[in-house]
Amino acid sequence: MNITMIGTGYVGLVTGTCFAEFGHHVTCVDKLTDKIEQLNAGHIPIYEPGLDALVAKNREEGRLQFTTDVAGAVAGADAVFLAVGTPTSRRGDGYADLTYIYEASKELAAHLQGYTVIVDKSTVPVGTARQVARIIKEENSTADFDVASNPEFLREGAAISDFMRPDRVVIGVESDRAEQVLREVYKPLYLQESPILSTTVETAELIKYAANAFLAVKISYINEMAAVCEAVGADITALAKGIGMDGRIGSKFLHPGPGYGGSCFPKDTLALMRIVQEYGESVRIVEAAVEVNSAQKARMVKKIRDALGGSEAGKTIAVLGLTFKPETDDMRESPAVSILPALLEKGATIRAHDPKGMEEAKKYLPDGIQYVENAYEACEGADMVVLMTEWNQYRALDLDRIASLLSKPIFVDLRNVYDPQTMKEKGFTYVGVGR
Ligand code: UGA
Repeated sequence: MNITMIGTGYVGLVTGTCFAEFGHHVTCVDKLTDKIEQLNAGHIPIYEPGLDALVAKNREEGRLQFTTDVAGAVAGADAVFLAVGTPTSRRGDGYADLTYIYEASKELAAHLQGYTVIVDKSTVPVGTARQVARIIKEENSTADFDVASNPEFLREGAAISDFMRPDRVVIGVESDRAEQVLREVYKPLYLQESPILSTTVETAELIKYAANAFLAVKISYINEMAAVCEAVGADITALAKGIGMDGRIGSKFLHPGPGYGGSCFPKDTLALMRIVQEYGESVRIVEAAVEVNSAQKARMVKKIRDALGGSEAGKTIAVLGLTFKPETDDMRESPAVSILPALLEKGATIRAHDPKGMEEAKKYLPDGIQYVENAYEACEGADMVVLMTEWNQYRALDLDRIASLLSKPIFVDLRNVYDPQTMKEKGFTYVGVGR
């Protein structure tokens, strides 16, 4: 099949490359000439494990191309996927900004040839696909097309395996013809029996928000339970196991931490709240999850302050991990972006390390943070170490070395990576989340 991907951001690039790996012919389009030149020179603008090799392989085998030419890319495509950004609107009202989706729809309309399915891949509010259809019809009254919604459920850092072995693929369609095209696109997944769920367009659009919001609720729930554990002297790790073994609850996404971040949960929970408001409804559980998440970040600042004896002024804090999760260089809405400025403001000195995110971090964090080459350098003479993101390389630290490097052996583990008893035996004052 011939597939065109509009937008070479995270979703477009991963999805386009994986479709090429399925054996389809994929053209990825972007307006940013620099980005396309870089991609054509073999440079991948984001860090995602395995993506560079997959891009190189599929380009070499002639199934993956990058271009700025929308007209050429759209003509002859069986399906055109819209994977442009839908950031939170700059108005600050939580709505998703659909400018890029609508601009792309307008631009591609004139170039459609033959029957084409226009698929929203970006996370968009309910009703967007209908707007896309309206725009295309206005621009090109003879175009033969259907719109569809095919939300993505890729986790950063695990996007390729999530794509290749999905729990499910959701396709929102309004005609059998469109459904057939999309089933053909995903045919390679039939072999492994990945379920393909077809729904109406509106339902598919809402499934994406409902799924992300549910996961955000689950995280905020366990973070709140962690606070309860601290208050009553219970242990969140055992508690999460104890509830997670119930098949109805499930053990995934029950890890307490400094709060969820990233480009999806914060944005999508807000957007869902706004969408339902427009229809005169509310999602109070989601509102509470958002509130708990902000409070969680503030709680972490207090946790750090308390562990330092009540004040961070004049103290040096070693911070391990800056990105919102491991295996990515993404700093968007990372807990570090809320926590570190609060510590700096109160007079702390921060010495930070992250395996992949330090360049990005500089764009999101205030000046004055010292960036170092490794975890041990961060700890040299520091008053405490804070493990902020659970990168693999922080999971087996030489603890004796860390203890000897710190001026005071205080270890704040915001991801509960280490065993409290072992840490105590190593001589640390150990503070976790909910234990
Ligand atoms: C999330 C969803 O998991 C994907 O299914 C979805 O496709 C994607 O958003 C999207 O909408 O594009 P992602 O944001 O990449 O993926 O990362 P997650 O692994 O879901 O983690 C999000 C945040 O929650 C991270 O800050 C992580 O540290 C935190 N988290 C996750 C916890 O604090 N506890 C957990 O148990 C799980």
